[in-house]
Amino acid sequence: MDQSALETLVAPESLEPLTCAVKERNLKEVLEATLATTVGETFPIREGIPSFVPANITDDQTIRSFSQKWAKHRYYREHTRSFYTDWYLQRYGFGDLAGLRSFLTEKQFILDAGTGAGRDAQNLAENSDATVFAIDTAWDALSVANADMKQERVRFVHADLHKLPFPDAFFDLVNCDQVIHHTPDPRAAFTALMRKLKPGGHVCTYVYKKKAPVREFTDDFVREQIKDLDAEEALKLCEPITKLGRTLAKLNVTVNVEEDIPLLGIKKGEHDLQRLFHWNLFKCFWNDEFDFFTNNIINLDWYHPVHCHRFTPDEFRAWFDVGFEVESWDVQDAGISCRARKL
Ligand SMILES: C[S@@+](CC[C@H](N)C(=O)[O-])C[C@H]1O[C@@H](n2cnc3c(N)ncnc32)[C@H](O)[C@@H]1O
Repeated sequence: MDQSALETLVAPESLEPLTCAVKERNLKEVLEATLATTVGETFPIREGIPSFVPANITDDQTIRSFSQKWAKHRYYREHTRSFYTDWYLQRYGFGDLAGLRSFLTEKQFILDAGTGAGRDAQNLAENSDATVFAIDTAWDALSVANADMKQERVRFVHADLHKLPFPDAFFDLVNCDQVIHHTPDPRAAFTALMRKLKPGGHVCTYVYKKKAPVREFTDDFVREQIKDLDAEEALKLCEPITKLGRTLAKLNVTVNVEEDIPLLGIKKGEHDLQRLFHWNLFKCFWNDEFDFFTNNIINLDWYHPVHCHRFTPDEFRAWFDVGFEVESWDVQDAGISCRARKL
């Protein structure tokens, strides 16, 4: 990490300033160092990435699940980037990259909380003049992205979104897409994140939506069976589900549900058969643009982490009732996206 970005960091809990004892650096950045507070707390910098996460954070099953997922899937960002970027632009009301660019004008500091492979961080940096801090608890995700991303204004930090090493009211935009529902208490996580947002700054965040009752049942039923396995074993067990998703998708068949089935939460109308299964019976994600391994990882990403909260639109909207102005609101079968301005 370069010197000017390092100077913005503070100790996560005390918010004290940090000194930096450099062990190795190149012309642009510090590669190996120790950050310290005056009261003796220390935090390492490894591979140019400051780390504020204790080793025992992976005692949390969800954090361990994602760490194992990112250690296995090392080409996720480029492989899925175009699909997820289009979806992101649509859900948050930007329309296209020009819309995102105009929204980001004058933003100086952006946080991408739970950056994973770093796709949003890259898009946010490429379409602004901002410095983008991309944080995650999964070391492998950051290490891979830091080594292969050619975007100098993205700075990776190994940190927990509940205990961020930044001053309060620091960011012009907090982006936290598809992450907050994976924390033990999403409302508390949202409050912690919003402390870091400037008044007048924006938040973009997404949570899973509650699904039809049979789908909700099978989600929890499957999760209960695989949660104690490591990701490798769980991936194996997800394979037949992914294969069935592929088989159903390749049929390319639509079925007509004659009328609403309120008892099962199924809506009347034309449904693609794979989508009918996926949204109403059990998640069996399949996207022809992705390879089998990636489709299977996406099913794992749903079934494996124990923290996987789902919300109704009313429950999620209530987060923004006080202190925010909602600028864009999008409800889909999968989840709910909100862009809001902090008052
Ligand atoms: C489903 S992935 C989403 C990644 C990325 N935002 C995207 O849209 O592709 C969830 C990410 O949140 C991270 N995560 C989970 N809990 C976290 C926490 N407490 N602090 C920081 N990151 C966390 C995981 O490691 C994982 O990379």
